[in-house]
Amino acid sequence: MSEQTPVTVALTGASGALYGLRLIDCLLGAGVPVYLLISEAGRLVLKMEHDIALPSRPGDIQATLCERFGAPAERLRVFGPKEWTSPVASGSGAPKRMAVCPCTTGTLAAIANGTSDNLIDRAADVVLKERGQLILVPRETPFSEIHLENMLRLTRIGAVVLPANPGFYHRPTSIDGVVDFVVARVLDHLGVEHGLMQRWGE
Ligand SMILES: Cc1cc2nc3c(=O)[nH]c(=O)nc-3n(C[C@H](O)[C@H](O)[C@H](O)COP(=O)(O)O)c2cc1C
Repeated sequence: MSEQTPVTVALTGASGALYGLRLIDCLLGAGVPVYLLISEAGRLVLKMEHDIALPSRPGDIQATLCERFGAPAERLRVFGPKEWTSPVASGSGAPKRMAVCPCTTGTLAAIANGTSDNLIDRAADVVLKERGQLILVPRETPFSEIHLENMLRLTRIGAVVLPANPGFYHRPTSIDGVVDFVVARVLDHLGVEHGLMQRWGE
């Protein structure tokens, strides 16, 4: 397998942590190293939705998740919310591709306004300023005018807003099948090969 450049993945505290877990799993499976950022609310949702209790220190989270995904530490690196010296915090070191999956409306607002108050918001800001590829997977319903305005703003700047909006024409018979619909679209936009779903017309 040829050496691939890393993708930054941020898990925030929206419902649908499974989208993020599956995305990480697929990236690692495709040989793509992952730089992972998890918000505090993201950790809470992981606990509530999957009984996954992550430790608080980034190094411990990394050890836990490397074991879970069967990945060596150089393939899955975890950075803390204030780790400003990490590669994702600067244009000279940050991967050119990033997905926030799932993405809260709060993080969406922070990115749309360039607040850069934590490493997720800063990493997204860096990807935007470097004209990289930023994919946002918001999960909320219904959307308010504020959410929609932020999504429009981010789309105009060049981000891809890809809501966790699964289709059903592939006739999923499990939650995994529903999740894969969304993750497949994220991987498509990241340019990562996958076999999660048959393509339309195949
Ligand atoms: C179980 C649970 C589910 C949540 N689901 C959502 C959601 O689907 N969308 C959303 O925007 N916020 C959701 N929230 C609220 C966010 O977690 C909260 O606004 C938090 O401040 C977001 O912080 P973050 O963007 O740093 O992760 C949820 C919170 C919890 C505890």
